[in-house]
Amino acid sequence: MNAERRPMLAANWKMHKSVPESLAFVRMWSRRVAEGAALPDPTQVELVLCPTLPALWPVAGLLDAMGVAVGAQNVDVGTEGAVTGGVSGHLLAEALATHVIVGHSERRRLFAESDAVVAAKAAAAFSAGLTPIVCVGESSAERQAGETQGVVARQLTAVLNAVPEGDGRLVVAYEPLWAIGTGQGAVPADANQVAGWCRALIAAAWGPAANRVRVLYGGSVTGDNILGFWHADELDGALVGGASLELESWLAMVRTVAPAPSA
Ligand code: PGA
Repeated sequence: MNAERRPMLAANWKMHKSVPESLAFVRMWSRRVAEGAALPDPTQVELVLCPTLPALWPVAGLLDAMGVAVGAQNVDVGTEGAVTGGVSGHLLAEALATHVIVGHSERRRLFAESDAVVAAKAAAAFSAGLTPIVCVGESSAERQAGETQGVVARQLTAVLNAVPEGDGRLVVAYEPLWAIGTGQGAVPADANQVAGWCRALIAAAWGPAANRVRVLYGGSVTGDNILGFWHADELDGALVGGASLELESWLAMVRTVAPAPSA
């Protein structure tokens, strides 16, 4: 955590929840807030919810009223045209998304997204005015081979070479593959070290603008362990999958990171 950067707590719902289920979650969240559940001041903590594509537009209004941003989970390159199934950044923005997750390891693995594709998608997000949350991270085998730094550097360098230099909207999410959905999150000190490597790499390319880039941690974050990541020097928040799907567990995380109201 660093006072120069606004921390972010982002929920990645992946391919979960229908439109009615998504709406029900957000309506219930809104009701709980009206009843007194903690909701951080958006100027102090940025909350982002990334539902499925069909649910973006339906939930956006309700979330906006709560000061919560809406993110997509993927963006296609290009702006318009004969791309069956494609969804451009412009279309996402029109559906009221302000953020987009790019290069999640599930997309790299299941959709064969290469570093070059991920970099092009990050650039497409910027062009559409979206804030990209770019995921990087090593596999278990790479970690065991001592390749973590090299893998993360390769993935991040591809992105830095493609996006506007010094654009502090960039958000990086360090998500080691072995920690995603396994219940075996990284140790905060290890995640902090990798985040430091990421920032050093960005600083080498961008200079002081690197201080504006937020680096999140993702991988089996829950209400029980979020604080360790939240308070790590080089980390600026968390990207949460499984634990964001259930309202009570999401509320527990939001409550944990919400600064105490000033007297
Ligand atoms: P998880 O997923 O919190 O369920 O481990 C995180 C992610 O994939 O972004």
